[in-house]
Amino acid sequence: MTAEGGGHRIGGIGSFTEIALPDLRANEPHVVTVVYTAGYKPANRAWRPLGPYLRVGSDTIPLPMPDDDGCRAMHLPDLGPPTGLNIVPQPTLWEPATGTSGVIGINCQDPTFQTVGALAKRHGLAFEGETAVGFEVADLPRDAYHIVISPNSVTISAGDAGGRFYAAITLLNLLQHGPLPCGTITDAPRFGWRGQHLDTARHFYDPQTICDLLDLMALLKLNRFHWHFADDEAFCLELDCVPELWQKTRLCGEGHLLPALFSGQVSAGGSYSKATVQAIIDHAAALHIDVLPEIETPAHAIALTHVYPEMRDPSDNGAETSVQGYKANAVNPAMPKTWEVLTAIIEEIATLFPFDIMHLGCDELPEGTWMGSPRARQLMADEGLENTDDLQGWMMARLAQVVVDNGKRPAGWEESARGANGGIGHNALLMSWTGQGPGLDAARAGYDVVMSPAQHVYLDMAHTSDPDDWGASWAAFVSLQDTVSWDPVPDPELAARIVGVQGTFWSEFTTQDAQIWPMLLPRIFGVAAMAWQERPPTSDDITKLAYCHFATSGHFMRR
Ligand code: ACM
Repeated sequence: MTAEGGGHRIGGIGSFTEIALPDLRANEPHVVTVVYTAGYKPANRAWRPLGPYLRVGSDTIPLPMPDDDGCRAMHLPDLGPPTGLNIVPQPTLWEPATGTSGVIGINCQDPTFQTVGALAKRHGLAFEGETAVGFEVADLPRDAYHIVISPNSVTISAGDAGGRFYAAITLLNLLQHGPLPCGTITDAPRFGWRGQHLDTARHFYDPQTICDLLDLMALLKLNRFHWHFADDEAFCLELDCVPELWQKTRLCGEGHLLPALFSGQVSAGGSYSKATVQAIIDHAAALHIDVLPEIETPAHAIALTHVYPEMRDPSDNGAETSVQGYKANAVNPAMPKTWEVLTAIIEEIATLFPFDIMHLGCDELPEGTWMGSPRARQLMADEGLENTDDLQGWMMARLAQVVVDNGKRPAGWEESARGANGGIGHNALLMSWTGQGPGLDAARAGYDVVMSPAQHVYLDMAHTSDPDDWGASWAAFVSLQDTVSWDPVPDPELAARIVGVQGTFWSEFTTQDAQIWPMLLPRIFGVAAMAWQERPPTSDDITKLAYCHFATSGHFMRR
């Protein structure tokens, strides 16, 4: 990035840029033109400087930008009433009977219903009423359920708490559209992994926002929250084993170790205490959502390397740069400190998060990383490794063993499968993000895979190419229709290996929590439909359903 006409770039790190201005004169406008020079074409409003401020001596003066309120609510066309049942995701089978039920609210002592009742109350949704739900235990698969809605009664069959919970969620969603329609619903999820990811490192979200997101996920029958709390910009979990890591990176901006690298503000950030993490895990668990922690290594590690420089080889003279424009953003597997810190983090995360999977990260290691490090070169010679991918694969496999030793199953982004050793191994779960191809290759190599292709389910991408829209564009512009115009299992032979679908939300363009809702909605409906439904909806179907469901989920926009 350079500045032209009115200032010149004097430095910065990544996309954080410092521009020296000439002496400014009172009451005289001063124009600076910021030009992207790194090959990116600014796509929309979000690409203007976020959170600019003036530094005058030791003072700072925020410069409010017009229209920097983030993404605006997407207006969907009214294509008429949806076919089928008016819920997202659609059930496996809906057999309508005549008429509507007189049941306008339900009650039940089952704990899952109590949880759904509390969820409804939190969001002002109608749920509870006079009619007691009848329950039958049935031999149904995990999370499956069956509901018979009659003029004066509602009867649910399920084989487990998950089935009862999702039946209650279905009724909650239906009740927002008026009297329940009479008929029979037979339903079961297509995938066991129905995820949504959130990056809380580039922007610190209030714990309440995370709980709201968990509520929205539950309303859509999503069941995995992928918590990305560590990245170049911050490590925002208050672990006992690395106090200086989060203490020095939790806040960014003027006077802190790192500037506000994306949001550009004078001061930003925050960290989650272990008590807060526990409260979020508990909130999620009640909603039948597991929380997947991601520690993110070996790249995206500026926060780590600034706090623990010993995780890099001081003699490394490599010039590699990350796609975010950072130099030297990977820890080095040849340094003992790397193993000391990462092992301690894995051990503590393993005790903090009950979910039996831990995500190690492993995305976007800059090409050529470690090749300028004599220590890494020696390690490669000792281990018979030839290149960066091989060393990354070796490192991931060794880290995965630490995860396994701590009683967890490892997970990683698709790059974890790289390397002559076959990559991470250890029965790891991989997430395919650059597209589906790497996920299919990983599935063929024996990995279980969650499909999260950026072109379809990266909800930080702008919805459209309109310069007045908001968001990233490196993968695609992702409309609601795009979220359902793909096949999670394009090769039926790999069906057993493709275990789920997950939406992803990176926070590079987020400066306020509320900006997340119009980015997620309505597209998270598409993610949920792909994750749950055996047959994905058509583009028209999802548009009609999303149009109707703004009625029930639209209040998230106003939070
Ligand atoms: C990623 O989007 N870098 C996983």
